[in-house]
Amino acid sequence: MRQFGAMMVLTGLMVFSRVVLADASSAGDPSARAGQIVTQVCAACHGADGNSTSGMYPKLAGQHAAYIYHQLTDFKSGRRKSPIMNGIASTLSDADMHALADYFSSQSIKPGTGKDPVLVAQGEQIYRAGDKGTGVPACMACHGPTGEGIPTEFPRIGEQHAEYIVSQLKAFSTGERANDPNKMMRDIASRMTDAQMQAVSQYIAGLH
Ligand code: HEC
Ligand code: HEC
Repeated sequence: MRQFGAMMVLTGLMVFSRVVLADASSAGDPSARAGQIVTQVCAACHGADGNSTSGMYPKLAGQHAAYIYHQLTDFKSGRRKSPIMNGIASTLSDADMHALADYFSSQSIKPGTGKDPVLVAQGEQIYRAGDKGTGVPACMACHGPTGEGIPTEFPRIGEQHAEYIVSQLKAFSTGERANDPNKMMRDIASRMTDAQMQAVSQYIAGLH
């Protein structure tokens, strides 16, 4: 039902975005054009300031511009699969993707919190020290002690919705998401248990 609802929204947006893009194609200012695309397309799911309110949709606020741009090009080429984002990215030009990346990266991410204190504590252990027994490295090594990431390769994950983090760890572990350089995340996620994914995501949701 949720999926169906999202697809209905998508169909509407696709029609709408084609009209918008056609209208705006002569407008020269990329940031004004990005603002228009955000309001008319992206805001419905990601929030106008990149702070989505649903865990199904990632927060984009404060994410590194190079990472956002890279994900948009991967959605457009189909290297990263998402029925929703593949369709939307296919309507964006290279200049649009750069301008949208700049727009969202300049927004401030709103704080989140992990809901379950026991899971948060277990998650902290994984984030900071990994799991030596199964060869899971400390997330901190690449995503930074406060989750801010390291541009350009390592995305910010701190304060991201736990539900979205879990969905991505699962997608990496099954190979459904396969656009990570050198299989870095596929290798790590495939070593993690479901319980570890839940725990680390609870910790990350409140990490800043
Ligand atoms: C109908 C809802 C919807 C709309 C509208 C939408 N998105 Fe998304 N977006 C999603 C979903 C769902 C995902 C997560 C996909 C997945 O599970 O891999 C996503 C993921 C992303 C990501 C990857 C983020 C990350 O952390 O890896 C970027 C970047 C993105 N969207 C940008 C945009 C931009 C820019 C627009 C407007 C042009 C837009 N989205 C419009 C639903 C939407
Ligand atoms: C060796 C470096 C490295 C380590 C260690 C690492 N990651 Fe990553 N991670 C990456 C890279 C690189 C990406 C970006 C993949 C891409 O470009 O699509 C990423 C992406 C992610 C994403 C997707 C973010 C998004 O917005 O969609 C999540 C979630 C994530 N990592 C969680 C973790 C967790 C949890 C751990 C610890 C268990 C971890 N990572 C450890 C390198 C690393």
